[in-house]
Amino acid sequence: MSAIPAPPGARKRLAAFCSHGGSNFAAIADAAQRGEVPLEVVVMVHNNAQAGAKAKAIARGIPTEWVPGHACTDEEAHARRLLEILEGYRIDLIALAGFMQRIPTEIVRRYAGRMTNIHPALLPLFGGAGFYGHRVHEAVFAAGMKVSGPTVHLVDEEYDRGPILMQRAVPIHDCATPEEIAARVLVEEHRLYPETLGLLAQGRFRIEGRRATLLSL
Ligand code: GRF
Repeated sequence: MSAIPAPPGARKRLAAFCSHGGSNFAAIADAAQRGEVPLEVVVMVHNNAQAGAKAKAIARGIPTEWVPGHACTDEEAHARRLLEILEGYRIDLIALAGFMQRIPTEIVRRYAGRMTNIHPALLPLFGGAGFYGHRVHEAVFAAGMKVSGPTVHLVDEEYDRGPILMQRAVPIHDCATPEEIAARVLVEEHRLYPETLGLLAQGRFRIEGRRATLLSL
């Protein structure tokens, strides 16, 4: 990763969406603040008043917006509220970082190619409905996998199915519990997510159907 800060105009404005601890959000925000990636994290949107991500945002001087899905009367109202925030902050890229709520279809369509998610396993294995949070690592452990690792993908209308931008294999053959797998994969998530977003911000991926190709410089 380059440590030469990009000029302000070249930085993409990013919104992070979080539900829980926000360690990925913090890794992205810190990489951006150190000037390692051409990004500016301008808002953290969360749906959980107790989200640990909130304290991390406050500590970094990043504004937060609380959008509890249940407080919106329907999907249309939910989409309207999110759009108001995204347009208000002039968002270029959305990074879902441990966000445990369905994103309204209208938002997914509007930000197609500009919304990413991180999944803590090597998709398309251990993904889709029912594979979230700790369940992913439990399934990886039960299957006796020798490698796991994070996947960063574009978000489309189906869970965990958008084009894969980057993946990184993490050896787990010596992990004795799903918790150990989770901890090891998380360390790599914190490297991979900022790096991938930096590449996306620079327009370095060519998307053809379900395939994303990293273009060389
Ligand atoms: C990460 O493991 C991520 O892959 C998954 O949810 C977890 C979020 O962790 N989608 P954090 O909130 O970033 O600490």
